[in-house]
Amino acid sequence: MSNPRHFLTLMDFSPAELQQIIQRAIEMKRDHRAGADQRDFPGAVLAMIFAKSSTRTRVSFEAGMAQLGGHAMFLSPQDTQLGRGEPIEDSARVISSMVDIVMIRTFGHDIVERFAAHSSVPVINALTDDYHPCQLLADMQTWVEQRGSIAGRRVCWVGDGNNMCQSYINAARQFDFELRIACPAGFEPSADLVAANADRVSVVQDPFAAADGADLVVTDVWASMGQEEEEQERAVQFAPYQVNAELMSHAAKDALYMHCLPAHRGEEISAELMDAPDSVIWEEAENRLHAQKALMETLLLANR
Ligand code: CP
Ligand code: NVA
Repeated sequence: MSNPRHFLTLMDFSPAELQQIIQRAIEMKRDHRAGADQRDFPGAVLAMIFAKSSTRTRVSFEAGMAQLGGHAMFLSPQDTQLGRGEPIEDSARVISSMVDIVMIRTFGHDIVERFAAHSSVPVINALTDDYHPCQLLADMQTWVEQRGSIAGRRVCWVGDGNNMCQSYINAARQFDFELRIACPAGFEPSADLVAANADRVSVVQDPFAAADGADLVVTDVWASMGQEEEEQERAVQFAPYQVNAELMSHAAKDALYMHCLPAHRGEEISAELMDAPDSVIWEEAENRLHAQKALMETLLLANR
C-alpha cells in the first residue's frame, strides 16, 4: 500500500480512534488474561529499530507481536547499516519492503518522520526526543480502567518539559483534559506546542500550584536518554520537583500518580510513593503490552 497510516504522535489518530484503541486494549488484556488465543496475524513481522535503550518498550512490542501470532525483529544501529550512515530514506524503503510494520526508538523526531515518509508499511514512534505516544496509550488505558473517562479532569505534570510532557500536551487535546505543567525555568516544553494548546495547557514553576486539586499527577526522569552528562546539574535544579506525599496532599483526595519508568527513587519520585501498595505504576507499565497490541492490530488491519 502506498500511503499507510502511521502513529508518530497522538495527533495521527482522531479522539474517537484513540478511544477505540483504549477500549480494545482493555478487551485484549481481559482476553489475554483469560488465556485466549490472539494469533490473528500469523506470519506478520514487526521490525523494531532501537537507537536508545529500552526494557518496557522492547519487551512489550516483542511479546505483543508473538501473542498476535507474528514475529518481532530487534535491529540496533550498531549491527545494521543504519549505524554506518545508510540514509534513513533508503533503509525505510528496504526494511518496509520485507516486514509488515515498523517500530522506531531514536533521537530526533525528524528521523521517524523521514522513515515514515519512505515506508510502505505503518511506522510507530516508540520514543523520540520530542514524543512518546505509546506510553500515553498505556497511561490513558490505566486511567480509564481505574476511573473511567478523563475528559474534563485536571492533570498535573511535574518535572522536565520532555518527550513525555509534550505527549501529555497532545493527550490534553485528544482526550480533552486540563493540563498544568510545573517545570524549573529553562526546562519548559516547546513554547509553540503550549501556545497551540493554550485553551487546555498552562505552564508554571511552582509544583504545588500545578498539583492543586489535580486528579492525576505525572512525572518522569529529570535527565532523559541522551542527556546523561547533564544529570548532576539537573538534579540540583529539579530538586524541588519531586512527586511525594507532600505534593500529593495538594492534589485531589483520590488522585492517582503515574510514572512511565524507569524511575529514580528519591529523585523525581519518593520511594514511599513508588513502593506504595496501591500505586498504579506497575499496571501502567503492563498496559504497554495491551495498548500496543491494540495499536498494532489497528494499523495492520488498516494496511491490509
Ligand atoms: N517507559 C518506557 O518506555 O520504558 P523503556 O525505556 O524501558 O522502554
Ligand atoms: N523521558 C525519558 C522517557 C523514558 C521512557 C527518556 O526519554 O529517556
